[in-house]
Amino acid sequence: MTTDQEAFDALIAAEQRIEPRDWMPDAYRKTLIRQISQHAHSEIIGMQPEGNWITRAPSLKRKAILMAKVQDEAGHGLYLYSAAQTLGITRDEMTEQLITGRAKYSSIFNYPTPTWADMGAIGWLVDGAAICNQVPLCRASYGPYGRAMVRICKEESFHQRQGFEILLTLMQGSPAQREMAQDAVNRWYWPSLMMFGPPDDESPNSAQSMAWKIKRFSNDELRQRFVGMLVPQAEVLGVTLPDPDLRWNEETERWDMSEIDWDEFKEVLAGRGPCNAERQRNRRTAHEDGAWVREAAAEYARKQALLPEL
Ligand code: ACO
Repeated sequence: MTTDQEAFDALIAAEQRIEPRDWMPDAYRKTLIRQISQHAHSEIIGMQPEGNWITRAPSLKRKAILMAKVQDEAGHGLYLYSAAQTLGITRDEMTEQLITGRAKYSSIFNYPTPTWADMGAIGWLVDGAAICNQVPLCRASYGPYGRAMVRICKEESFHQRQGFEILLTLMQGSPAQREMAQDAVNRWYWPSLMMFGPPDDESPNSAQSMAWKIKRFSNDELRQRFVGMLVPQAEVLGVTLPDPDLRWNEETERWDMSEIDWDEFKEVLAGRGPCNAERQRNRRTAHEDGAWVREAAAEYARKQALLPEL
């Protein structure tokens, strides 16, 4: 007779999906809850840096696009919270972890957005990195996660193009606009490379997550792929990537680049990035201010349940 573990291993080996009611090892469940909830929190916190520019977008059209994009991020957060819930954690527990600072979310959302060009750089670099990282996650072995990622990636592609287009417009504008675009690229380039996580030899979760086919490529492989995608796009835009050592190495068939500032990464993860406190405070306030909506919805549901069926 096959054991539960053998049946699970066979599904993974056959590239089949694990579904919520299937048996799974506790560590697999825990890893997925960790990754999916962190991912959901990133989408929700990620609404803040761009939300900052909705009231100041330079035209009605730009404003409508930005609002739609920020709403998409909320939707991504909700699909992902739902996917995590299928593993046995509640939405309340995840929210509690986020607003008390116990949950991680992507380092990238702890940087400020002082200029309109940041909307372009976020779309181009941050959503571009998200696509590189997340397209392989569409094939993640856990069904609800992989399926959520398909829709999310389609929307992220639109986000990336709108960011590219904002930068392209600025780069075709006045010298001051070109300077603003380049300055935003300078500030977002390195943090966007940090989104892929620590180097492979310092990534405690990668080996097991790859064996379980949650992650399909290592952090460094995806970072390489991302840089390869950026180089020709930077040429079209006319911006310079702020790394004088960046070049294709024919021998290793990899991009050589300067060392990433991993001390900065660690500081941001430890809660000491430029905007960590502000992001968390805003999220906590929004949660507290929304208490009456949750109470009203629960009360409405309770009353509906008491009504006789028509
Ligand atoms: N920001 C914050 N934390 C990070 C980051 C980052 N950029 N990169 C790695 N970490 C954390 C990991 O979560 C892990 O912490 P934990 O063990 O306490 O949970 C620790 O650093 C060590 O890293 P790894 O062992 O490499 O962790 P993992 O295998 O989970 O890989 C990665 C990290 C690549 C981010 C992975 O979790 C992933 O692909 N997540 C899904 C994508 C995602 O969350 N994207 C969010 C930003 S994109 C967006 O929202 C638009």
